[in-house]
Amino acid sequence: MKVLIKVTVFSLLTIGFFAGFSNFGIPEINPAPPPIEEKLDLGSMTMERFIVLGDKIFNGKGTCTLCHNAVGGRAPMLDTVAATAPERMADPRYKGDADTLEAYLYESMVKPSAYVVAGFGKTGSNDTESPMPDASAGGISLSDAELKAVIAYLQDTSGADVTVEIPSDAAAEEAAAPAQEAAPAGAPRAPHASVDAIMAQLACVACHKVAGQGGEIGPDLSGIGASRDRDYLRRAILEPAADVAEGYPPGIMPPNYGDQLYATELEMLINYLAESK
Ligand code: HEC
Ligand code: HEC
Repeated sequence: MKVLIKVTVFSLLTIGFFAGFSNFGIPEINPAPPPIEEKLDLGSMTMERFIVLGDKIFNGKGTCTLCHNAVGGRAPMLDTVAATAPERMADPRYKGDADTLEAYLYESMVKPSAYVVAGFGKTGSNDTESPMPDASAGGISLSDAELKAVIAYLQDTSGADVTVEIPSDAAAEEAAAPAQEAAPAGAPRAPHASVDAIMAQLACVACHKVAGQGGEIGPDLSGIGASRDRDYLRRAILEPAADVAEGYPPGIMPPNYGDQLYATELEMLINYLAESK
């Protein structure tokens, strides 16, 4: 009888052990999740997400904050644009066709010279030509959906009602946005292998013409190697305040490229510029 009890207890313990083991000890193997549905749900974009997308573009790919920032004084601040736009459109100097804030913002981005805010025109143009590049072309090349996202963001931040309609391809732009965001100053990133990529990342072409293309806030760099040597170029990039190019305002070229460039990238830039003759 004693033996039978022992055998029974032993069996129960054994069964219990295996039962418990199988419940807790064996790692659960989940079947692989089904592949993520590639098709984007275009209907699900909300205005809130669209405004966030506009914020990302304004601060990243759009390069807007390079000029529209509180420190440089290079371009008007846009947080009051809802209030100032009606005055701009009513100004006799206004040459555009906009009659709403939305249309004014769109026009400002794609035809900056339709109205040039007093004191901000290209040097010597008597405020008839804007130094702002067309955001839908050239180095910035925002798509229509991206331009609309920026408008939504600017309407929202300046306290106006957001009137833009979310375009059908907005979700695709949102999906692509993180990859396009510019790295914040000094953020770790992989060094670039080409001068084009360095200049694009650091937005040199927003202010300078390089190989004939780009902005006009700074001197044309297309043939700079003919008049400037390597030491000068190195100093111009690392310490823009050391020599200020004649006819150009000081304090506009960002002073912190030394923190953002890898040494190899700096050498590539200097070589490229020195050889541009
Ligand atoms: C290279 C410098 C530069 C960049 C980059 C730039 N802007 Fe401008 N922007 C200016 C200047 C200068 C003005 C003022 C002259 C004028 O009215 O065109 C201006 C004017 C504007 C105005 C009209 C402001 C007003 O008070 O009426 C808007 C709106 C605007 N920019 C939006 C943008 C947006 C959005 C971006 C990014 C997609 C951008 N800008 C990128 C320089 C720049
Ligand atoms: C926000 C506008 C802006 C950006 C961005 C910018 N620069 Fe400049 N840069 C200027 C201005 C304005 C000057 C002229 C005033 C001065 O010398 O500081 C200048 C001057 C220079 C000069 C000296 C030119 C001469 O003839 O003396 C060089 C070289 C130069 N920049 C290279 C670069 C490179 C390379 C980049 C990108 C890594 C860059 N800049 C980005 C505005 C800019």
